Amino acid sequence: MKSGTTMSDRAKAFLSQLGNPSQCPDPRSFGFDGSNPYYNLLYSVAKELQPDFVVELGTCTGGSTSHLAAGTNCKVISIDIEIRPDARERLLAFDNIELIQGDTQDPALVAEIVKHGLIDLLFIDTDHTAEQVTAELALFGPLVRSGGLILFDDIRINPGMSAWWDSLEENKLELPDMHWTGFGVVFR
Ligand SMILES: C[S@@+](CC[C@H](N)C(=O)[O-])C[C@H]1O[C@@H](n2cnc3c(N)ncnc32)[C@H](O)[C@@H]1O
Repeated sequence: MKSGTTMSDRAKAFLSQLGNPSQCPDPRSFGFDGSNPYYNLLYSVAKELQPDFVVELGTCTGGSTSHLAAGTNCKVISIDIEIRPDARERLLAFDNIELIQGDTQDPALVAEIVKHGLIDLLFIDTDHTAEQVTAELALFGPLVRSGGLILFDDIRINPGMSAWWDSLEENKLELPDMHWTGFGVVFR
């Protein structure tokens, strides 16, 4: 990670002047189609902040994972309850990605993650219920270093998520232009 001020201080400055993030130029990245500008945000944030360790909850097709990994050479761990074979295949283009199949509510995953140290950048994007995101934040939030960042997709996808985000007592920023279903950032 770059030295000096904390990563979240630099993230605040970067996000305040970001506007519309430019498209990821890495030909290994995939899945961007204009409906998901947050893919380019993931790339831009990883590239600008140069974290030492990134964790994603919710791999799915691997598109978001590819954008995170395109921005940085550091290890990117992505967890999904079912890793899709096509995602695994396409993400082989990156040598900094590790895929873990598991339930994000399983405390055993924490032991796997802490082997790599504290998380600089955590991206939470699984089943979008307040209950699950609360459990994920309780489990993985303490693994994020002071000065680190947590990104959330779909914070306005349903009334439960919206109420959860509104009541979340964190140093937070909403980036409504990054996804029509809402996108949020927490600065630790
Ligand atoms: C919205 S998709 C992720 C999208 C991906 N991050 C992207 O932006 O392209 C949600 C993923 O979360 C996974 N998921 C849902 N519940 C989960 C759980 N309890 N543990 C792990 N993964 C889960 C689903 O299998 C699905 O692939």
